[in-house]
Amino acid sequence: MKAIRVGLIGHKFMGRAHTHAYTDLPLFFDPGVEVVKQVLCSNEPGVEAAARRWGWENWTLDWKKVVADPEVDLVDIAAPSAIHAEVAIAAARAGKHVFCEKPLALNLADAEKMVEEAKKAGVVTMIGFNYRRVPALALARQLIQEGEIGDIFHFRGCYQQGWLVDPGFPLAWRLRKAAAGYGSHGDLGAHVVDLARFLVGELQEVCCFQETFIRQRPKPEFEDGLVAKAGKEMGEVDVDDASAFLARFRGRKTMGYFEVTRYGNGHRNQNRIEINGSKGSLIFDMEKMNELEVYLGSDPANLQGFRRVQVGEGVHPYMANWFPAGHIIGYGDTFVNQAFDLITAIKEGKAASPDFLDGLKCQQVLEAADRSAHSRQWETVPAK
Ligand SMILES: NC(=O)c1ccc[n+]([C@@H]2O[C@H](COP(=O)([O-])OP(=O)(O)OC[C@H]3O[C@@H](n4cnc5c(N)ncnc54)[C@H](O)[C@@H]3O)[C@@H](O)[C@H]2O)c1
Repeated sequence: MKAIRVGLIGHKFMGRAHTHAYTDLPLFFDPGVEVVKQVLCSNEPGVEAAARRWGWENWTLDWKKVVADPEVDLVDIAAPSAIHAEVAIAAARAGKHVFCEKPLALNLADAEKMVEEAKKAGVVTMIGFNYRRVPALALARQLIQEGEIGDIFHFRGCYQQGWLVDPGFPLAWRLRKAAAGYGSHGDLGAHVVDLARFLVGELQEVCCFQETFIRQRPKPEFEDGLVAKAGKEMGEVDVDDASAFLARFRGRKTMGYFEVTRYGNGHRNQNRIEINGSKGSLIFDMEKMNELEVYLGSDPANLQGFRRVQVGEGVHPYMANWFPAGHIIGYGDTFVNQAFDLITAIKEGKAASPDFLDGLKCQQVLEAADRSAHSRQWETVPAK
């Protein structure tokens, strides 16, 4: 295989992040294969100008053309959840490898179908849980797996954004169930649930409550991802603004606490994880993404306390490929790390991680929690 040719669907927030990844990948990593930005697709005319400026060979307004294009090896879905299943299934049936942004699908039934069809087609799949590619979180996993933190008592995940506090912010697609499937629960919660699975293990049961603080918002006259302009007409918010749940993990006594909100006033994008174990503790905060706070009970008594590990040396995951030690990386660079893992898996004909099955397992947790918010009872997460 000399080249992997990508068809990218979506040209805004994630479209830009993924374009950055494919463009910068060969600057930092050598995947042993050329990555060609074959075609950029969106259902908005601005895609042509974006394709030219970002170095895509072609552009189209019709995702079906991307899926049918014999020049495309990998279909990358960076569009809202509403079209994930339809595009991913069509792409897999056409024999294309598929990357899909999170959450995997609008609902559990669609997520199951995506896993089934990709398996039948034998293509490589990956889901966009890019926080696994933050070097500090990859280091956290290493430490846990090496037993440095011991038996884990508590997993705490708190993902806060504050962009909905303004009641004048329009009813953009993220606030519409038909487009997004869930509110903060699926958007931010998907990342936290995936990190719980990545760092600790599978979840067994959940007990959730949710709130929608503002029910009526102006319909958008214009929207561009997280930026939108209010029109005059009002519409109904039919998803959660905030969601919180308790969880038990499968086969272990770890207690899990999950909180996500778009009303975390003052926080722009705080994804914070705390883990307490029998031998030590870990704290990660996306607002300081190049650091991992590590407490080890084995430290001498007069030096006990959290140390701030600056994750920017060649010994840290992914960092040997980046700039000289201490020259930190940013949010967009996690997508370069992710693209390297994806392209390597395709080149080597191996399964990628996290794949659609990981996306489905995450979705099972989200759905169980959503059910619990309505039943007001603990709900079980399926074991398979
Ligand atoms: N991994 C992360 O950290 C992260 C961050 C933000 C968003 N996301 C996920 O990425 C996906 C996209 O989110 P976004 O923030 O980029 O949204 P966005 O609104 O910024 O962009 C959506 C893009 O999809 C295109 N699109 C919509 N419907 C289409 C259709 N029928 N055919 C072709 N193109 C279509 C739009 O034209 C636009 O280019 C979502 O699943 C979201 O949850 C992931």
